[in-house]
Amino acid sequence: MITARVAIARLRPGPQSLVRCESLLDPQELARANRFLRSADRDRFIASHAALRLVVGAELGVPPDVLRFDREEGGRPFVAGPASNGFDFNLSHSGDLAVIGCVEGARIGVDVEARRPLPDALRIARSHFASEEASALAALPPEDREGAFFALWTRKEAVVKALGTGLSLSLAAFTVAVPPSPPGLLRIADGGGKWFMAALDVGPGACATVAVTAADCDIRPVSLAEDWADMFMTK
Ligand SMILES: CC(C)(COP(=O)(O)OP(=O)(O)OC[C@H]1O[C@@H](n2cnc3c(N)ncnc32)[C@H](O)[C@@H]1OP(=O)(O)O)[C@@H](O)C(=O)NCCC(=O)NCCS
Repeated sequence: MITARVAIARLRPGPQSLVRCESLLDPQELARANRFLRSADRDRFIASHAALRLVVGAELGVPPDVLRFDREEGGRPFVAGPASNGFDFNLSHSGDLAVIGCVEGARIGVDVEARRPLPDALRIARSHFASEEASALAALPPEDREGAFFALWTRKEAVVKALGTGLSLSLAAFTVAVPPSPPGLLRIADGGGKWFMAALDVGPGACATVAVTAADCDIRPVSLAEDWADMFMTK
């Protein structure tokens, strides 16, 4: 069985950690960071990409600031160069949480969403998700719908992110299990091969799912310490 390691990081860098995080990023990442209008969004972007570099660098034995990334046609990033043969990763961030999945010999997709009030969850599901998914959501007690919607959303996004198709694949083109059923891919247009999906516990207030293109996978979550940025960087 293959193993996926999934790091969960809080994105709350203090001013000094932020400077260190920034020093790991390449010019493209810094340019993207500087496009954010709100400094809190900029800081979280910087922290998420520093965490990504630290985690992926540790996986591959490459210094974090030396890692180079390239993008697939659909925009999905991958590590450039021979060190990354067979290695795959995926990043997701929402609010002050980042999730970074790493695997060898398969593709991985991760998605985290901070939960927020969403009175029109059912309308969104009906217009974007597969009809079976929207119906299953509508059949739930109203008080369970919002939580189920966020779990469902991360299940669908995790699949899309493993595939790397971005929004070119309609979210209605495939079906995943709807809570309270456990995560799983039920139907996808081209047969789709084997998939393994699991919910990730990221604490109250957020939902996260990991999807791996393998029949079975040992998912190993690791929560980075609150002060991960300082701990990594003072080594
Ligand atoms: C870009 C996309 C892959 C994920 O976006 P997202 O869920 O908003 O954001 P996440 O934080 O989970 O993922 C972003 C990260 O995924 C990675 N990524 C970018 N393009 C990707 C792609 N095509 N496939 C997989 N991963 C991708 C990058 O590392 C990116 O981080 P960065 O922007 O800091 O460089 C795409 O699926 C998208 O735009 N989805 C939004 C769809 C939507 O609105 N769904 C609503 C459902 S109700």
